[in-house]
Amino acid sequence: MSSTKFNDRCIKAIDTLKAEGRYKTLKLLSGAAGAETPIEGLGDTLIFCANDYLGLANHPEVVKAAHAGIEEFGAGTASARFICGTTTAHHDLETSLAAFLKVESAVCYSSAFATNNGVFPALTQPGDAIFSDELNHASIIDGVRLCHREVTREIYKHSNMADLEEKLSRHPDAQCRFIISDGVFSMEGDLAKLDELCSLAKKYDATLVIDDAHGLGVLGETGRGIGEHYGIMNEIDIYTGTLGKTLSGISGGFVAGSATVIDTLIQFSRPHIFSNAIPASSCRAAAMALKVLDDNPGIVSDLRGKVEYFRRRLVEMGITPIEGNSGIIPVVVGETSTAISLAQRLLDEGLYVVGFGFPVVPEGTARLRIQVSSAHSMSDIDRALDIINKVWPNDTRGITSN
Ligand SMILES: Cc1ncc(COP(=O)(O)O)c(C=O)c1O
Repeated sequence: MSSTKFNDRCIKAIDTLKAEGRYKTLKLLSGAAGAETPIEGLGDTLIFCANDYLGLANHPEVVKAAHAGIEEFGAGTASARFICGTTTAHHDLETSLAAFLKVESAVCYSSAFATNNGVFPALTQPGDAIFSDELNHASIIDGVRLCHREVTREIYKHSNMADLEEKLSRHPDAQCRFIISDGVFSMEGDLAKLDELCSLAKKYDATLVIDDAHGLGVLGETGRGIGEHYGIMNEIDIYTGTLGKTLSGISGGFVAGSATVIDTLIQFSRPHIFSNAIPASSCRAAAMALKVLDDNPGIVSDLRGKVEYFRRRLVEMGITPIEGNSGIIPVVVGETSTAISLAQRLLDEGLYVVGFGFPVVPEGTARLRIQVSSAHSMSDIDRALDIINKVWPNDTRGITSN
């Protein structure tokens, strides 16, 4: 580095993370996604931290579809969508996503992070007001930040409908109002109060945007997500979502909603216009994952049964997770250093789960986030629980996470 001052600053920031036990190391997986995967230096390791809730990232039909996509379309598009980056594979995937979510139209992005960065600046104008849950995903927070400076931002307390309503009522003159919430909150695993959000959206003439990244494929009888869970799919105006979790785990995101909204994004959304399209092979993989899910709704109930079993067994061991019915099982342990060292001890025993601390979650509420997948057999699950029981310190048992 030519600037010593800059170099010193980087080193200082990294050293601080190390001293506080918050330094991240990248683990090298030397095999495909699945219940158990080899990690360099550790050998075969049970993976309980992936977003592959339905085990479709390495499903034979999904992998085959990706191969066929490469054969047909090559490695990549070498172009943004509006130039020469839209193939029939993109069109097919978007049509399937819209049909699955029972909306008019959908459009893909290179990730859900890019999606959430691209949606709000494109759909809002000066004079509008956005109401966003304080625990929304970082990509929503950043997307809201990217809006025009004359768009009002109100951050309401987590799932606190009285606070949301009070904030909505403060802006009677806003041009357009947008309520934005995660469907499943990624660090808590709890669900948005969708029924109440819908009522408030109607009452205050707001557009309701739900990021259902962790809900799609997990919630609802057929995996259609939080809207199906509440029985009010048609009341969500705009979905944002990812292809990087249940839908094959590839890198990709999407928006689904009315044809007008999707056309507005195609015309105005910067990550869509100024960035390469996702590869056609990824579209084929995600479309196949969607088909597997659509054809086999039993995988959703299988996942649910496994999550319930995992939660029940944890409680029997005196380990109380935050309540919830998503695929995310967070257990609060207190300090960041406790979470990080506990995760390391579990890893040493062959179980990979991740400890999250401040600033990802509030100070003093560091946690382990366990994620169960229908790819896990009951024997994988029992092995994971045995490791947890062996390693978990007695002084953090009995703490209620809520
Ligand atoms: C709620 C939510 N939205 C968006 C994202 C970003 O997804 P992607 O990995 O596709 O960028 C995530 C990923 O963690 C998420 O949990």
